[in-house]
Amino acid sequence: MNLVTPEWLVFAKVFLRHPWDVSSIFRTRTAVAKRLADRIREWRPQVIVEYGPATGSVSRAILAGGKLAASSSLLLIEKTPEFVEYLRRTLHDPRVSIFHRSATDVLKVLAECGLGKADCIFSGIPLTLIPVDSADAILRNTREALNEDGLFVQYAFRRNNMEVLLRRHFQNVRSRTEIFNIPPLMVFEARKN
Ligand SMILES: C[S@@+](CC[C@H](N)C(=O)[O-])C[C@H]1O[C@@H](n2cnc3c(N)ncnc32)[C@H](O)[C@@H]1O
Repeated sequence: MNLVTPEWLVFAKVFLRHPWDVSSIFRTRTAVAKRLADRIREWRPQVIVEYGPATGSVSRAILAGGKLAASSSLLLIEKTPEFVEYLRRTLHDPRVSIFHRSATDVLKVLAECGLGKADCIFSGIPLTLIPVDSADAILRNTREALNEDGLFVQYAFRRNNMEVLLRRHFQNVRSRTEIFNIPPLMVFEARKN
């Protein structure tokens, strides 16, 4: 298993510059990103949003393997400029739009794209490490941005009180651990009902 890839070097360099926003020196491993994206394999949603794609491990897995129809949209919302620049340079797919914004702006981003609600939102933002007001604002807008039967997938390297935070905004929350990631990844799936 080769951990030191050019993509990881970009990730690690940006982590050293913005440790609080990035939260880990490791990106999500490709195999685990694929398992996260497999969640939508059968369902093939039309509108997907991803918060905090960083170098795009999960984004590339979502795009690979025919999970996303040609008419679908994948909106990537990333706060850190170095990652935005990397994604714009390396990720070329007509279904993808990259926004240098905060996840708090999800409703505005959907409106600017002329899209209604999202079917699925993935998030790698370290929600339990940012101020609780900011986390609540992101989750409030996420709930509003999702279709009634939409799915929110949040992953994190630490459990902390993520489930408590999610339950304040979503009725139905489940969690599991992906042990083959370094470090192991906690995956939370939340729905409105
Ligand atoms: C743990 S990293 C995610 C890693 C990446 N998704 C992966 O799977 O390898 C957290 C990411 O969230 C981004 N981020 C943090 N706060 C954000 C916010 N409010 N809006 C959008 N992105 C944010 C960081 O810049 C970073 O790219």
